[in-house]
Amino acid sequence: MEERETADFREAFNSVLKSIANEFSLEGRAGADLAAMRLRNAVSKPCRSRISQLKPLSLLQEVCNLPNAVEMADFVLECAPLLDWEQWEGRGLSKDISNRLFTTELLGPDGHIHDNQIRVGLLVSEPFTDYPVSNHSGEETYFVISGEAEWVVGSGNYQCYPPGSLIHHPSWEIHGRRTLSEPFLGAWRWSGDLDLSTFSVNA
Ligand SMILES: [Fe+2]
Repeated sequence: MEERETADFREAFNSVLKSIANEFSLEGRAGADLAAMRLRNAVSKPCRSRISQLKPLSLLQEVCNLPNAVEMADFVLECAPLLDWEQWEGRGLSKDISNRLFTTELLGPDGHIHDNQIRVGLLVSEPFTDYPVSNHSGEETYFVISGEAEWVVGSGNYQCYPPGSLIHHPSWEIHGRRTLSEPFLGAWRWSGDLDLSTFSVNA
């Protein structure tokens, strides 16, 4: 759609892609290196034209304006109105929780820019949201853009990760995340098996 491809949108969108690439290029894993390379290549590729009506803009404003947000939060906020946001409804996830989460795939099989090798997106969560432990086929890393949340991986304890952190979930590893008084905004990547239907909550 023409509206999406305004110069301002594309500049902010490309800044998001390049900023996420920079963070994943520091991770030191093959999947992260692939994500960084595909993100950098994506800046010259066309966006798909689907426009969702779901826009969690007040939540994004709240989280991007937290004092400890990293710089890319400004670019996310700028292009957010033209991104396709959706609520994630994975197997076993209650409606109460999925209503408090909004995600957008920037790059990937279902992304704004098509890619068959990787999925990269953003996720924003309301405060006081206990995303239950779950697992999936894709190897996953989150980069914290803004908001402190607590994470658990495998049999460990919940740990708080501030903006700037990377949290890695190996393929099929059980993991969960809960927000407290702050909302959360992160960038995520999936590498390896990209089949979203493998997701399930571990009751
Ligand atoms: Fe995950």
